[in-house]
Amino acid sequence: MQTYTHHNNELSMAHLGNEVYLKGWAAKVRNLGGLIFIDLRDRKGVTQLVVKPENPFYELALKIRNEYVIEAKGIVIERESKNKQLHTGEIEVDVKELILLNSAETPPITISDNTDALEDTRLKYRYLDLRRPVMQNYLIKRHQITQAIRQVLVDEGFLELETPILGKSTPEGARDYLVPSRLYPGTFYALPQSPQIYKQLFMVAGLERYFQVARCFRDEDLRADRQPEFTQIDIEASFVDMDDIQAIIEKIMVKTFKKVLNTDIQTPFLKMSYQEAMEKYGSDKPDMRYELLIQDYNDVFKTIDLPLFKGKSHVRGLLFEQGQTITRKRIDQYTEVVKKNHGDMLAYIRMQDGQITGSIAKFLTEEQVKSLKLSEGSILFLVAGEFEPVSQALGALRIEIANEFKLIDENAFKFLWVVDWPLLEYSEEEKRFYAKHHPFTAPVDAKILKDDPKNAMAKAYDIVLNGYEIGGGSIRIHSQEVQRLMFDTLGLSQEDITNRFGFFVDALKYGTPPHGGLALGLDRVVMLMTKTANIKDVVAFPKTQSAKDMMMQAPSDVDQKQLDELMIKVGK
Ligand code: AMO
Repeated sequence: MQTYTHHNNELSMAHLGNEVYLKGWAAKVRNLGGLIFIDLRDRKGVTQLVVKPENPFYELALKIRNEYVIEAKGIVIERESKNKQLHTGEIEVDVKELILLNSAETPPITISDNTDALEDTRLKYRYLDLRRPVMQNYLIKRHQITQAIRQVLVDEGFLELETPILGKSTPEGARDYLVPSRLYPGTFYALPQSPQIYKQLFMVAGLERYFQVARCFRDEDLRADRQPEFTQIDIEASFVDMDDIQAIIEKIMVKTFKKVLNTDIQTPFLKMSYQEAMEKYGSDKPDMRYELLIQDYNDVFKTIDLPLFKGKSHVRGLLFEQGQTITRKRIDQYTEVVKKNHGDMLAYIRMQDGQITGSIAKFLTEEQVKSLKLSEGSILFLVAGEFEPVSQALGALRIEIANEFKLIDENAFKFLWVVDWPLLEYSEEEKRFYAKHHPFTAPVDAKILKDDPKNAMAKAYDIVLNGYEIGGGSIRIHSQEVQRLMFDTLGLSQEDITNRFGFFVDALKYGTPPHGGLALGLDRVVMLMTKTANIKDVVAFPKTQSAKDMMMQAPSDVDQKQLDELMIKVGK
């Protein structure tokens, strides 16, 4: 078989008169007054073929339907009516020889950028969905981004190393995917939630700088930016502090954005403490592309004799100055948003035609109204309660309003380091501490961890882009005593520590260097760089929201024989 001379995006007026071989799929076939035009598509683009009635291959050309695979030899000629939209729109190829490589049934989805096919259908026929140029572009960009990141890390002296997929449960916070062992019935491997322990052991081993394009598995509730299996660019380095890791990540971003999008990214990235992020944005991953900050309104509202405010530790609010058009119905919907995001109730007052109106307007004195300095058309939303839930609720409302009123500069890429994290989180329900990042993150001061764990701070950092957490990392504990103290504080018994992490605590006693790292969520990075809001677009074969593979029909039943070998009985 003759190989092709060009891809279908390549030919232009510079090739007039050249003999070329092209291959691909018939994207569109038209018969216009005897001339047959075929749009030939491959992953690079489209070229128009023309077959004239006197052509010996005319009969064959008449049989070509959409998605037939064909090969054409022909001469590049100038088009009569040019198509400015198309890269190859000035030329066409006058076919001299046409070979049908394969026919195709009518596909269940239209192979074009715009599709009205249901997502389940697209996922069932993913191989056809991926023929759509827009989808191919996501995967091509994913490839380019992965290569660019890899190149920076290799240039910086990082070794690309692999770690096991069949491992032991590590506490990353989500549920594990388990794999039963045939040889040791009743025992299980866990698929890695991340290679956290292994990468730290590389540091113990003295490999100094590691990275991996690592597949991770987490059985958690899925969202638009979450898949049960996803890919991290997982990084670890020895003899580093927080600034060193952050500098490497910034370098990765600058070079990758330049290479793939030809976009200049400014460094150093902005830094903000976790506390400030929660206070002003009501989120640990604030979107810095717009303002609309949350403010405290304790002074004015805490004294008001309403159950809504009474006895509440915080009254916080969001003042939106262009709120004229917001209807009652819309405010009811905002209330739902607030309730879904840990808030109790949403109160509001607004300034309309010089009048103060709204759910709580009549309870305010003139003095109090004045102190709020509401301009015409503005509306103040208020939520009362504990600091975290109140801030989170207003943070969610902030996003809702920003989307609705198009406050977001869609072209901007706003990076942010969220730093100064608390080390632990206390669960009132379970009366125990949880690690905010993971239990290997170093405290800023081990003495505080011992004496006053609630106030211990972590050497941790998250990288946020346009309101998405695209990566998280920390400096790790490298002393065996501190690691034991950490496990202890988390409520693990000595027996638990030995059973689950004995090998790791052991490893720490043989001369572990100070080390730290970070993992970037590759899927999210690709999502943001390609401006899609759906993580499935950038994953070749994603799972549905309910963790199903529509194409393979996984998960699925297995043979009784397989279950017997594993000594597993499935209850009904
Ligand atoms: P973390 O749990 O923060 O850190 O994960 C790092 C990054 O991975 C991405 N991510 C996900 N992407 C898609 N789907 C998911 N279900 C999903 N879960 C996480 C996010 C996140 O920021 N071992 C540590 C890293 C370290 O400390 O070095 C870890 O896994 O973008």
